[in-house]
Amino acid sequence: MKITILGAGNVATALATRWKAAEHVVTIGVRNPASEKSQKAQAALPEIPFESMESAVVQADVIVIATPPDAVLELKDLLNAAADKIMIDTTNAVRVRPEPYPTAYHFIKAETKAQHVVKCFNSTGFENMANPVYHGEGIDMFCAGDDVEAKTVAKQLALDAGFSTCWDFGGGDKVELLEKFALSWINLAIMQGFGRDLAFKVVRR
Ligand SMILES: NC(=O)c1ccc[n+]([C@@H]2O[C@H](COP(=O)([O-])OP(=O)(O)OC[C@H]3O[C@@H](n4cnc5c(N)ncnc54)[C@H](OP(=O)(O)O)[C@@H]3O)[C@@H](O)[C@H]2O)c1
Repeated sequence: MKITILGAGNVATALATRWKAAEHVVTIGVRNPASEKSQKAQAALPEIPFESMESAVVQADVIVIATPPDAVLELKDLLNAAADKIMIDTTNAVRVRPEPYPTAYHFIKAETKAQHVVKCFNSTGFENMANPVYHGEGIDMFCAGDDVEAKTVAKQLALDAGFSTCWDFGGGDKVELLEKFALSWINLAIMQGFGRDLAFKVVRR
């Protein structure tokens, strides 16, 4: 798949590394190639092209939004122009949100023509995206949204990144719950002090 990741921070670097290793064609779109984060990511990802966000989205089948959630306010025209593509929203509106919407997913659905939108890769720390294997087994990923095609792609990309499975958390009405689930990880890992080397795995019988 041709994947363009918007943003060059921790999440972008982790996912780009995994997907490149799985032989996807990955491009990173940045607003400022000279920023500290862009420079760090370029050093970590020497084989991956960095381009302007505008040019990076043109070639993509899949656009992964790995910026702060309110960045979609500025990316509205760009996302609208790419409305036929699959969009994976990794953001969590913990500190800021794209007002008046609760999440970036809701903003994109309401303010652009894009409909192939899914929330995924938001529910665990970037270290777990860089290495999703615990005790020889992949941890779980989760996705939510109303578009079946976008969910199918997100689930495949979760497997390709090394997660053992990607649970369907539900439709667009469960996107906020999935962000709260991410907040539950943040609560355990950071607020309760258990550390970022922990992950969720669903067990059944
Ligand atoms: N960190 C985690 O463990 C984690 C886990 C799950 C989900 N998330 C979510 O994933 C997203 C990215 O997190 P991160 O930790 O990778 O962030 P980060 O390391 O702070 O990187 C953010 C990236 O977004 C870019 N950016 C910021 N504002 C922008 C704007 N208005 N327009 C375009 N680009 C902009 C930054 O570019 P500059 O260099 O130009 O500032 C940078 O490349 C966040 O929404 C976060 O909630 C994070």
